Amino acid sequence: MNATPYRRRRALLAQRIGKGVAIVPTAPERTRNRDAHYPYRYDSYFYHLTGFTEPEAVAVVIAGDSPRSLLFCREKNEEREIWDGFRHGPLAAKARFAFDETHAIDQLDKLMPDLLADQPVVYAHLGADPAWDARVLGWVNAVRERARTGVAAPRDIADVHTVLDDLRLIKDEDELATMRRAAAISTGAHLRAMRAARPGGTEYQIEAELLHEFRRLGAQSPAYTSIVAAGANACVLHYVNNDATLKDGDLLLIDAGCELDGYASDITRTFPVSGRFSGPQKAVYELVLASQAAALAEVRPGNTWNAPHDAAVMVLAQGFLDLKLLTGSLAEVLEKESYRQFYMHRTGHWLGLDVHDAGDYKRDGQWRTLQPGMVLTVEPGCYIRPAAGVPDTFVNIGVRIEDDVVVTSAGCEILTSAAPKSVPDIEAAMNGG
Ligand code: GLY
Ligand code: MN
Ligand code: MN
Repeated sequence: MNATPYRRRRALLAQRIGKGVAIVPTAPERTRNRDAHYPYRYDSYFYHLTGFTEPEAVAVVIAGDSPRSLLFCREKNEEREIWDGFRHGPLAAKARFAFDETHAIDQLDKLMPDLLADQPVVYAHLGADPAWDARVLGWVNAVRERARTGVAAPRDIADVHTVLDDLRLIKDEDELATMRRAAAISTGAHLRAMRAARPGGTEYQIEAELLHEFRRLGAQSPAYTSIVAAGANACVLHYVNNDATLKDGDLLLIDAGCELDGYASDITRTFPVSGRFSGPQKAVYELVLASQAAALAEVRPGNTWNAPHDAAVMVLAQGFLDLKLLTGSLAEVLEKESYRQFYMHRTGHWLGLDVHDAGDYKRDGQWRTLQPGMVLTVEPGCYIRPAAGVPDTFVNIGVRIEDDVVVTSAGCEILTSAAPKSVPDIEAAMNGG
């Protein structure tokens, strides 16, 4: 555990807000059913600032002339540790996570009014959890009650996530190192899936191969529910049943990525279950691949967030006309957005601690400008459902190709390029290459 990047981010937060107090709690544990819990996942904002993965913890960053940061966490508890495992406790957490002060979490309500006294603004995240909102407002009110003693309560309450979103949007070198490792594990998992797929197998067996590879290489979990979609299922964008049998002649669309030390990867590959693309499958696949190449070519500093999407749409729209999936002129297809019959989602999203990561896409009504350190996915697709006018040969073909990309000063770095993507590379990988 290297606490330096987390301490640096807390210092950055203090600098950005300038004055006041920021309060960032981690996520609660959640019951799945009766005594069973969902696997615990800390809050991404909290983790970004702390690296601390235990539940029942709150980070407090005090800005100003001498900024400091505090962690409230669970006390050591031998009895509970026998059942649930190790807890740092405030003493060990202070040293290990490089906080200026740490306290037991049950001191939070007692100490927060002191910490908020004479502070001009409190940065919190309100509106997501009524119980948390009431607690934060309770602390502010507790300070107000001391007014006659000459203490001033915060005048403003501001949204801490708005500030943190901007910090999270630009990844530092420590984050990029983890994201490269997450991407490498996921590319290996996709390769394993390609080698395991065969007619007569099932989508869930392929899902098992992915999960096996994620865990085998140390990733804690998938970053989102894996989509393993054969044949027509590939045309269901959020298909997660993963229970169908793989048939000769099907394409298999796999959208799966691991989460490693909090960071997501997000890869889609589409390949033929038999190991060989049919003519129509290849035509659609090559079109999506060309649209992805066009989008990737637009990922560079100074371009807008939307430039890769526009480039992908341009290639896809022309391709839909060439394949006679659509009629009319390119200008009409773009103007009326009729391409949306086959390409109805956007070409990517920010990627980081969350698979759909923090950060605005527009600022003051304008698409954001790409900057070094931003990480995004580039994931065009084509989904051909049965409809009047759609040639039979193309019906139920669904293709998406998704890579994870870092904006660099020179352009971009593709983190996931080791997962086979060209038709010859896929066919080689599946046929013993
Ligand atoms: N796997 C989620 C996405 O591609 O957006
Ligand atoms: Mn994605
Ligand atoms: Mn995806």
